[in-house]
Amino acid sequence: MKISLMQGGEKIRFFSATKNPEKCLNCGACDEIVACPGGGVGNTSECAGCGACYLACPNEAIELFEVQKRSEIRICVDGEHFYVPKGITVLKALELLGYEISKFPEKEGIFAPCNSGGCYSCALEIDGILKPSCITKVKEDMKISTELPENLVPRRIVHGWMGHPVGGVGTPWWLKGKYYVEAAVFACGCNLRCPQCQNWTTTYCGKGEALDPRKAAILMTLARKRYGVDRMAISGGESTLNRRWLVNYIKELKSLNRDEKARFHVDTNATLLTEDYIDELVEAGVTDIGPDLKGFRVETFMKITGISERELAEKYHRTSWNAFKYLVENYGDKVFVGVGIPYNQDLISVEEVLKIGEEICKVDPEIQVCVLDYRPEFRNRKISRPSFQEMKKIWDALKSIGLKFVICQTVHGYIGP
Ligand code: SF4
Ligand code: SF4
Ligand code: FES
Repeated sequence: MKISLMQGGEKIRFFSATKNPEKCLNCGACDEIVACPGGGVGNTSECAGCGACYLACPNEAIELFEVQKRSEIRICVDGEHFYVPKGITVLKALELLGYEISKFPEKEGIFAPCNSGGCYSCALEIDGILKPSCITKVKEDMKISTELPENLVPRRIVHGWMGHPVGGVGTPWWLKGKYYVEAAVFACGCNLRCPQCQNWTTTYCGKGEALDPRKAAILMTLARKRYGVDRMAISGGESTLNRRWLVNYIKELKSLNRDEKARFHVDTNATLLTEDYIDELVEAGVTDIGPDLKGFRVETFMKITGISERELAEKYHRTSWNAFKYLVENYGDKVFVGVGIPYNQDLISVEEVLKIGEEICKVDPEIQVCVLDYRPEFRNRKISRPSFQEMKKIWDALKSIGLKFVICQTVHGYIGP
């Protein structure tokens, strides 16, 4: 069956990427982290228009331009044959076939939050192998299965195993500052597009071996031994994108670390943490969790996260606030909860940080609050890192409204609580 290149009366648009030599600083990031399905960023004739390089370039040197697609190839989706334009991604082909593609997990359709090949949420069985559909190019007679078997082992790219001396948002304050606080690993891919992303080489990374939960848990257990710690943390990118993977990873980790001292810590932007997801994670064994609250107002959330679609931003924003409240109210006695708040005067006002603090206070004034001084990074290099004095003022103000445990990250290390 041939598919129409018109949807809802509108012509479907296809893109190709090119490097703008005036903006490219030859930083090498696109070669190192982008899993380009076109055989290399800048190879425009083979470009699948996936956009992974466009998202990853810290200098905004990649430009997407519209191209015409004429020749078609035959692919097989769930046993049926279709003709789709040559040179596009599997995800795009499925979109053309009418599949719903979403940035928030829905019951139906394909959840594709990162578009970089790191999280594997969009992974499908392609010619018998689990591959991320967002960065896999269609090929003649490719066989795609959108119904993954129940027993299929999930995978995702995680990297950067390390001993972490400071810990994350969900690390209790009394542990911070010791030699090694926890063993940490970072999950690739993120659903947000923060222009000042502090971990962008993980966020936009689609290269590396995609590990199953068991293998990742074994590597983390070895890291725990190597660094002589009891805490095992996962952060990102965004750790929660691939739910099946994360829940199984925590279960595997718990089965390998049965001693009472072992702690299983998840740091997250909390934008996907629905109540049932939280229940599942706690049931799996999570003991410490650090959700972020990136703004009281949706407009602030959009500015900080780079999410320009209002409806999606509202959903993410609402989910993160609800996750924080649900966690504290339902699991406050069982799970350590530490909340992260961003601060930089160009992104959020002091008044809004205090408003967030007041809302936290209403839920529980004893919740640990960690204010992170957002610095110039990635694409947002015009902002200045807040001074020590600015962060001290934030700390004083949050303490004065009744929060008991406030720590502020500063240019000279943590202050507080
Ligand atoms: S990531 Fe951007 S700036 Fe760096 S080499 Fe690639 S195109 Fe150039
Ligand atoms: S990463 Fe995607 S958009 Fe960029 S050059 Fe490769 S195929 Fe094209
Ligand atoms: S959306 Fe494709 S790997 Fe994350």
